[in-house]
Amino acid sequence: MSSFCYCFFFFRKTNRPIKRQFSTPRIEKDNARFSSSFPRFKNSSTSESNRNQNQTLGFVEEMRFVAMKLHTKDQAPKEGGREAAETPWAKWRPTREGYLRFLSESKLVYEALEDAVRGPDARPEYAAFKDTGLERSEALAQDIRWFREKYDLTPPAPTDDGPGARYAAELRRLAGEDPQAFICHFYNVYFAHTAGGRMIGVKMADLLLERHALEFYKYPSAENGDHRPLLEKVRASLDALAEGWTREEKDRCLAETEESFKMSGALLRSIAEPAGAAS
Ligand code: HEM
Repeated sequence: MSSFCYCFFFFRKTNRPIKRQFSTPRIEKDNARFSSSFPRFKNSSTSESNRNQNQTLGFVEEMRFVAMKLHTKDQAPKEGGREAAETPWAKWRPTREGYLRFLSESKLVYEALEDAVRGPDARPEYAAFKDTGLERSEALAQDIRWFREKYDLTPPAPTDDGPGARYAAELRRLAGEDPQAFICHFYNVYFAHTAGGRMIGVKMADLLLERHALEFYKYPSAENGDHRPLLEKVRASLDALAEGWTREEKDRCLAETEESFKMSGALLRSIAEPAGAAS
């Protein structure tokens, strides 16, 4: 994957400037089947009112294109480029303990991302990714407390070889040493959470939490709780940053997408696997 020319990959279907193909807001359709208390929005990034369909799109569209191809058909039926998984995600048999473990492991990942952009050693080019409103670690801390109060459940203490700690360590390393790779993870983690992540959240709320909507899926700092303008702002900052990159640097970033899927996939497996089996 890493030696592949993403530039060619991305442009091979068309010679014209890239235009966004707006798709049916499938997520809203899914949300409608579930909890009425769960925040409902159309697709995270396909807000037609927010975006000018005729604009030539930036590097985020390249990242999205590569990411969508790495989805399985059961995850993203229209755009997924991989065969459906043996156990499609909608057929997972999640447990409340597993979901709580996923939240607790995820918190380590968000803390690493958030520290990397706002800590004392943060690279100057990360300044635009500080306080975006997309931060999730505080929301996750609240949710973990809620599990204790509501179900008397606490997650197992994360271990260094668990999926969260391993991903967090890798993010901290990349943030300093390999900014293009770090930005790839930053994009994938935050944007995936508002797309497939929300779908999973709705399903888990329905199956395991008596339809309670977790803070993890809410964006109180956004106007009307609508996260899409926050994403648009981050998208613009990502596009602006990548404008200063060479084609090789952009390809380095795109090549990291597969790693991002692997590490997030290990986190997701916590939901339906017993502790110790997910990493
Ligand atoms: C069960 C797991 C997953 C499901 C069900 C899922 C589902 C989806 C769906 C349906 C979309 C399309 C949204 C649209 O119509 O535009 C999407 C977008 C996306 N997904 Fe996933 N996904 C999963 C896992 C992942 C993982 C592991 C990653 C990477 C870490 C990821 C990264 C992304 C990205 C970057 C987008 C684009 C978001 C945007 O356009 O704003 N997804 N996902």
